[in-house]
Amino acid sequence: MKRIFGILCLFVQFAFAQEKATIVISDSGHTVIGRYIYGQFAEHLGRGIYDGFYRNGKIRMDVVQALKEIKVPDLRWPGGCFADQYHWRDGIGPVSARPKTVNTTWGMVIENNSFGTDEFMQLCKLIGCEPYIAGNVGTGSPQEMKDWVEYLNFNGTSSFSALRKVNGHPEPYRVGLWGVGNESWGCGGNMTPEYYANLYNHFAAFLPEYPGTQLKKVISGPNGDDYHWTEVMMKDIGPDNAWGLSLHYYTFPTGKWNPRGSATHFTEQEYAHTLVEAEKIDTIIAHHERIMDKYDPQKKMALLVDEWGVWSDVEPGTPGYAMYQQNSLRDALVAATTLNIFNNRADRVRGANLAQCVNVIQSLILTKGDQMLLTPTYWVFNLYKVHQDAWLLPLKVQSPLFVSGKDTVRAVNASASVDSTGIIHISLVNFDAHKSISVKANLPKPGPSVAGQILTAEKFNDINTFQQPTKIKPAAFTGCAIDHRDLIVQLPPLSIVLLTIK
Ligand code: AHR
Repeated sequence: MKRIFGILCLFVQFAFAQEKATIVISDSGHTVIGRYIYGQFAEHLGRGIYDGFYRNGKIRMDVVQALKEIKVPDLRWPGGCFADQYHWRDGIGPVSARPKTVNTTWGMVIENNSFGTDEFMQLCKLIGCEPYIAGNVGTGSPQEMKDWVEYLNFNGTSSFSALRKVNGHPEPYRVGLWGVGNESWGCGGNMTPEYYANLYNHFAAFLPEYPGTQLKKVISGPNGDDYHWTEVMMKDIGPDNAWGLSLHYYTFPTGKWNPRGSATHFTEQEYAHTLVEAEKIDTIIAHHERIMDKYDPQKKMALLVDEWGVWSDVEPGTPGYAMYQQNSLRDALVAATTLNIFNNRADRVRGANLAQCVNVIQSLILTKGDQMLLTPTYWVFNLYKVHQDAWLLPLKVQSPLFVSGKDTVRAVNASASVDSTGIIHISLVNFDAHKSISVKANLPKPGPSVAGQILTAEKFNDINTFQQPTKIKPAAFTGCAIDHRDLIVQLPPLSIVLLTIK
């Protein structure tokens, strides 16, 4: 009898056991979460530019409006791999006179160059973001990149500034962010790090800083865990000759390139595996940071993860080179977690660009003809925009685990910041597919009120479609309360929560 009673007690305890997480938030904010962490990326690839941003010779104002809303800080263009075959002079002047070139990187499609430099500048102006240009090292020359800077930034009288005026833009655009090549270890020219470092120094020496525009030159950085590349960049270029070093890391749901896994049809085990793959970025950044710290202990040089995202198989019926994929709640959970990682590492990570903004890889926006939908990932950027330029509040999370098959991740992750008006924002993620988790966090300063928003869905592979475009979108969240100096949150399964404490 006693034994049966004991088993019953255990069962009751188990059935009602509440999963718990604890967050300790420190109030010593010395690091600003740079807004560039929330940057985007647009390449001449598939329906990214044509159809996505630019349709029937016009910039899509529906897309512009949506991007304005999330305060996009910068937009990287024209690639990606395309950048190292792009010659900027093909894309200026009267559209009818622009050459037709072949996009040999992406599908051999004909590039009519109707969207070029001035159209890109107009797009950035409308969005209210900074342009981030990836210059051509692979098939370009220092002279060509230098001329591009002059066309965009020179305020005096020269042939290139005159050309800009003829093209309707007397005022300089003052473009500060310049990538010197892209993936130079791969599609950008299959270079060794030593060879590229020499080329970087050569190109950078001729990039002029015209009065009124400070250039932020970015080194084409490592692929994922290629630490040797970083070592050579830091040694041969160094922190005084570049503003930043880029890093590219993609999450392949299966952990491999082929097959990468469906964007919409995947099991719980595959879901968990994607999370494990996504979280590797934290360790990878930590390793690169250690190398950078060795050469640059004052952290002068920024690390920019200027390509990241979940890269799955294309949607059935779409061409492989176009990389059109759907976007599920899983991808939003990955985006929210990755942004938490970037926020928490903001002392070195000062920029990042999700790949890619519209219709390509992990998109914010999908379009079909004149229709547009906002993906779950878009809503993450909308929730998290409050962290831009706010002070980081470092935190430590103690979380239960989410286990599926061979894969284990911490169920809860978070980041926190305080803005210039003293408002605290905490972003929380619960990966667990079944369990709600009770989170207790200390408040660094007393706050009389807490309000929240939640992004969630029933299933991790739920998506927004053109038939049901708002199935997944943020809603008011009421599962939070303040108890003296403690914040208590009931995080539902598969959820992203943004709390505002005033
Ligand atoms: O984002 C798609 C491609 O991925 C980019 O063109 C390239 O830089 C990377 O390999």
